[in-house]
Amino acid sequence: MRNSRPALLQESAAVLLLVLLLPSSALAQILFQGFNWDSWKQQGGWYNSLKCQIQDIAAAGVTHVWLPPPTHSLSEQGYMPGRLYDLNASRYGNQGDLKSLIQSFHDQGIKCIADIVINHRTAEKQDSRGIYCIFEGGTPDDRLDWGPHMICSDDKAYSDGTGNLDTGADFPPAPDIDHLNSRVQQELSDWMNWLKTEIGFDGWRMDFAKGYSAAMAKIYLDRTSPSFAVAEIWNSMAYDGSSGKPSYNQDAHRQELVNWLQGVGGSASLFDFTTKGILQAAVEGELWRMIDANGKAPGLIGWSPANAVTFVDNHDTGSTQQLWPFPSDKIMQGYAYILTHPGIPSIFYDHLLLWGFKEEIKKLAAIRTRNGINPSSSLRIVAYESDLYLAAIDEKIMAKVGSKLDLGNLVPPSFQLAASGSDYAVWEKTS
Ligand SMILES: *[C@@H]1O[C@H](CO)[C@@H](O)[C@H](O)[C@H]1NC(C)=O
Repeated sequence: MRNSRPALLQESAAVLLLVLLLPSSALAQILFQGFNWDSWKQQGGWYNSLKCQIQDIAAAGVTHVWLPPPTHSLSEQGYMPGRLYDLNASRYGNQGDLKSLIQSFHDQGIKCIADIVINHRTAEKQDSRGIYCIFEGGTPDDRLDWGPHMICSDDKAYSDGTGNLDTGADFPPAPDIDHLNSRVQQELSDWMNWLKTEIGFDGWRMDFAKGYSAAMAKIYLDRTSPSFAVAEIWNSMAYDGSSGKPSYNQDAHRQELVNWLQGVGGSASLFDFTTKGILQAAVEGELWRMIDANGKAPGLIGWSPANAVTFVDNHDTGSTQQLWPFPSDKIMQGYAYILTHPGIPSIFYDHLLLWGFKEEIKKLAAIRTRNGINPSSSLRIVAYESDLYLAAIDEKIMAKVGSKLDLGNLVPPSFQLAASGSDYAVWEKTS
């Protein structure tokens, strides 16, 4: 035993060196959305409940978990934030519960992502006009204690007309914050850095990022250096008026995502709404949609895979809101695609832990991880018919989506079946 020690040490040093030399995008990354629209209703608190499920989450190969907005908020879910430093008034649990949850994830090597809602903010008090536009930060000092000057001047319902114009889309239910204001920039950056140093968060999920420009997002990213950041730019797809279906070409849709990525300078990712929209139409017998005019994947992963977070559903599109749901009987076809393809796949809480797909998702995630499939893996699309989509990823695995059973000789004999379920299959190359 003694003699083997130096060799072991050498080996682990070599592994460490290899890990250090790999660009971060080449490391396997799997995001997990650790809540749904109704998680705040959990008896005993959501943070405490999620803590009991960390083993299952870790077993699915998850590297990053996205937690719900942590602050005081007018709405239970957290998306109408007010006193940003007050984490004790959250419906998910208090500040101590949250810190303990984050510590438990860190103990498993899983990084924690905070849901950052900064486009808009709800005010604590009315001004002399009777309008709610006086904000309080939730600290004894005046940090984040703002007045109507910090509201975008074109947000007519709340503004006093002295702020700057909004740099992005309006959010009608609450005051839109003036991100061109230097005090706003400074105090929000300080707050995000406090979430890192005091609470333990590692990175950000930026809510409603179309509400402010990419240049504004870049300011917060540059000043807080998250180890991982993903933003939500959710725009409507182009629809074919006569059929009501998504149009074949969604290049304009993904171009908007690419423009934002270029605007922030490549340090962040975006949710791949383009892939979601095309994929959920394609699994309804239109799998010919899963290729673009240049033979690449038709979503953001076809153009900028290292910055694309693919997903099947989230707390808005699926869950109990069902705003834009993936066909519920084809969920695993969605995972067979995103967990085998380039991009950063994201697993939704409901699918892993509520809907009974745990074993199937774990199996696909394990295939991804052991074959080193990463955000920038190469994709070769082999077949794209109504009822068959087949692709090779890094020439190491092959993934099939669709009901077609006779694949002829499309899957070479050197590939062995590794996972299969309702209308999907994955093969691994044998060595
Ligand atoms: C929240 O509670 C913690 C103790 O659990 C305390 O340290 C912190 O100051 C409280 N925050 C606020 C805003 O009351």
